[in-house]
Amino acid sequence: MTEQEMIKEVVRLKKEKKGVIFAHNYQIPEIQDIADFVGDSLELIQQAVNTDAELILFSGVDYLAESAKILAPNKKVLLPVLDAGCPMVNMVDAEQLRVFRREYPHIPILCYINSSAAAKAESDLCCTASNVVELVREIEADKILFVPDQNIGRYLAKQVPEKEIINWEGFCMTHHMVKPLEVDVNRRKHPEALVLVHPECSAAVAEKADFVGSTTEIIRYANQSEKKEFIIGTEMGVLHRLRKENPNKKFYLLSPSLTCFNMKKTALGDIYHALLKEQHEIKIDEAIRQKAQLCLEKMFIKR
Ligand code: 13P
Repeated sequence: MTEQEMIKEVVRLKKEKKGVIFAHNYQIPEIQDIADFVGDSLELIQQAVNTDAELILFSGVDYLAESAKILAPNKKVLLPVLDAGCPMVNMVDAEQLRVFRREYPHIPILCYINSSAAAKAESDLCCTASNVVELVREIEADKILFVPDQNIGRYLAKQVPEKEIINWEGFCMTHHMVKPLEVDVNRRKHPEALVLVHPECSAAVAEKADFVGSTTEIIRYANQSEKKEFIIGTEMGVLHRLRKENPNKKFYLLSPSLTCFNMKKTALGDIYHALLKEQHEIKIDEAIRQKAQLCLEKMFIKR
């Protein structure tokens, strides 16, 4: 089957099965181009709740598809590649959170969306890169445990100094690799460019940036800016939308290490097979799902 034939089949199968394809901003260009919606973590899970479709094919990694299933339990959610996971998810587990809760029952637990359903079930509130600062400001407590990303935790401590953030030790293997020196070198090479980075980068990198935000916030910032050049400090998949939506602007990747191998595991053929065989369906223990749903839904409450 040629690529064009496969795309046609994907479109046909999607219609036949009343399905939609959601893709994270880090997915490969061919998948972003056939997806019904491409976005950051928060946008994708909101879409999962709002869609009328009965089947959601989630092109991304496990915790995203799992979060969609937690919030939309009556829809069939498929993850095309079973082992497309996020190593950060395994850096905190539910039992560690239960132990913390027993010791410090009055300290709220805020967990990043890059976490398992079981960890979300043990947490008070969930967040993504685009709403974490706002949510921390709103939590009615002086001390908060934030898990598992240490870099976002440090960024939070700077952004919301009036709260004490108890930090965990997890990290994103892709963003954590970026060195502050790479910001200096790129600024020297591209003196007109603005530096836009993801908060999963180290605090030392974030401090040197002109803007820190989620993947979609970075895209939106570049789209709205009058500047013509940008140094991008997040996974290279975002370059596709940035260049497509801004053909007259220039984008440089901050570091060659900014490729997430898990986000790149899904190919067009996997999307086709997943739709054809309706694989691999996300299943979550119902008691865990219900608790995780409460934790996730709280982030949507308008305060
Ligand atoms: P966002 O798309 O929410 O910014 O998340 C990016 C990311 O790094 C996920 O691991």
